[in-house]
Amino acid sequence: MRRVAIAGTGSYLPKKVLSNHDLEKLVDTTNEWILTRTGISERRIASDKEATSDLCAEAAKCALDSAGLSSADIGLIVVATITPDMPFPSTACLVQQAIGAEAAFCMDLEAACSGFIYALETARLYVASGHVNNALVIGGETLSRATDWHDRSTCVLFGDGAGAVVVRRAVRGMGIMACSMGSDGRLWDLLKIPAGGSRMPATHETVEARLHTIKMEGREVFKHAVKCMTDACVSALNKAGLNKEDIAWIIPHQANRRIISAIAERLEFPMEKVYVNLDRVGNMSGASVPVALDELVRSGKVNSGDRLLFVAFGGGFTWGATVIEWE
Ligand code: UT7
Repeated sequence: MRRVAIAGTGSYLPKKVLSNHDLEKLVDTTNEWILTRTGISERRIASDKEATSDLCAEAAKCALDSAGLSSADIGLIVVATITPDMPFPSTACLVQQAIGAEAAFCMDLEAACSGFIYALETARLYVASGHVNNALVIGGETLSRATDWHDRSTCVLFGDGAGAVVVRRAVRGMGIMACSMGSDGRLWDLLKIPAGGSRMPATHETVEARLHTIKMEGREVFKHAVKCMTDACVSALNKAGLNKEDIAWIIPHQANRRIISAIAERLEFPMEKVYVNLDRVGNMSGASVPVALDELVRSGKVNSGDRLLFVAFGGGFTWGATVIEWE
């Protein structure tokens, strides 16, 4: 198997900003509650003309630029999303058309907020086996379209955006060193969009009852998120044969600042080396990790040889962590 590295990163955030103060006018909430309970100040909202594939295509172009590759070089596109443009065709096929990556085969992958970690590992295996040379891995969401704007316990959390990476064979160093993933389908009911699938197809009643929007048992999800993300970090580090001292940055899924701090505390890892951007973007599900990665890389804070640890948790439940040595 070939070693596989990230050759370029990109991201795209819609222009429109929705602040906590804007939300105070929509539901019974306060800037202070949102900030202290989540760490979020504002989030981005896609325009009426933008769907998930539009955000993903912008992020993909940016990642291709940074990798110095053209869309014709791409053999595989994997999009991690829970808010596809439509049930089918896949968002990945729509991205393919938008960027003109005609040589690629394309698929979506659904692992909720862990989607990017799952998609990256999937693409790694295709590249490692020599099946494709270059793959685009994208996490993109328009969660504003799946948000219940009457439910203060969820509508303050989510934002829209997309992040992308190009993966290819490692030329220097180790590239992706280890990945640890897990799922627990027994707990599927704690975080979901109930309607719109084969279990509960769309009807006037499901729309009126707002069953096409995200429902979450926040406190339960919080507890599992802390435990599973901490355990996933330890497991990925063990697989890579590294200690936490070897890690330059942890790039976690951005659901709640308190979750992130609790993980850092349990791992006894300094918060200064944990990248947090949720104050500006909120929880973007599968887009959280790749957008955070792109921001960190573009800020010049990631050096060649640095070991990074990505970690995420989401509906399903699903979770995963990846250790990578940066080229
Ligand atoms: O991305 C996938 C994974 N997702 C997550 O990891 C999210 C995990 N969960 C969380 O981040 C937190 O549970 C939330 C941010 C969703 C909620 O924070 P919490 O500290 O767990 O609050 P809570 O649900 O226990 O609610 C505490 C109180 C309740 O009032 P009472 O019953 O104590 O009177 C809520 O009704 O806060 C109330 N509340 C609000 N008050 C003002 C809930 N939402 C709001 C709000 N504004 N927006």
